[in-house]
Amino acid sequence: MSKVLRAPAEFRQACEDARAARQRVGLVPTMGALHRGHLSLIDEARARADFIAVTIFVNPLQFAPGEDLERYPRTFETDLAGCRERGVDLVFAPGPSAMYPTGFQTQVSVHELAKPLEGGFRPSHFDGVTTVVTKLFNLSGRCTAMFGRKDYQQWKILSRMALDLDMPIELVGCPIVRESDGLALSSRNRYLGASERQRALGIVSGLRDAFDAWEDGERDPDTLRSLAEESVHPAFDHVDYVAAADPETLGAPPSSPTRLLISVAAQLGSTRLIDNVVLGEDSRP
Ligand code: PAF
Repeated sequence: MSKVLRAPAEFRQACEDARAARQRVGLVPTMGALHRGHLSLIDEARARADFIAVTIFVNPLQFAPGEDLERYPRTFETDLAGCRERGVDLVFAPGPSAMYPTGFQTQVSVHELAKPLEGGFRPSHFDGVTTVVTKLFNLSGRCTAMFGRKDYQQWKILSRMALDLDMPIELVGCPIVRESDGLALSSRNRYLGASERQRALGIVSGLRDAFDAWEDGERDPDTLRSLAEESVHPAFDHVDYVAAADPETLGAPPSSPTRLLISVAAQLGSTRLIDNVVLGEDSRP
């Protein structure tokens, strides 16, 4: 039976108690609207730890004005049922005023890794993510924390942050979970109408074309990026970027890389989707 806690101090105490009982803490930070991707993070946490805590908090700091904070899906009862089915020990679901009480004015920023890709289009987003995750890590204490690699840049930034700030947290980047037709699971997929859902597969085709060319021996980043772009552009209303980047620095890749991140952000109507593949590492999307 998952226990639901709303107060940060209670969450901290529960994690301390678990460690005092010699349990390894596994943390799964989420914004709720849980789907099979999140459930796979819970399963991974279960494989690595003894006491599993899921956090559910739609973090206002990581949404810019005009983004989808208000309409972001909130499905707490269903989320809780999913957590209970999965044997989650604790759900921490604070309200905004518990996380950001009056007078709150501190920000955690990671610099270079937060500039390219998403950072170019959502300039304040990662500061909101790193700030809230720092708070969650400070409350949870020593633990193993799971993140999905659909948010590849987020995972890299948070890993850097934990290293730079000596946080006693092991971060695990878990594989993207996809629908049977390849669409990456996302809480935002539920915004898509039927025809948009079909057009969203343009991202999958693009990533697959780049993947197949890589498997056939193509190594030129620009060629691989263009191949992805050819499928994404016609399918989407607006494309923020189709990028080829170094999977570690997120900057420009070498001319013949051994691994290459192809990363996409594009919009269908008012829904913005992101997806990626690391060529030379991931399996076919
Ligand atoms: O990936 C998410 O759901 C969020 O960015 C996170 C890590 C829970 C921080 O709010």
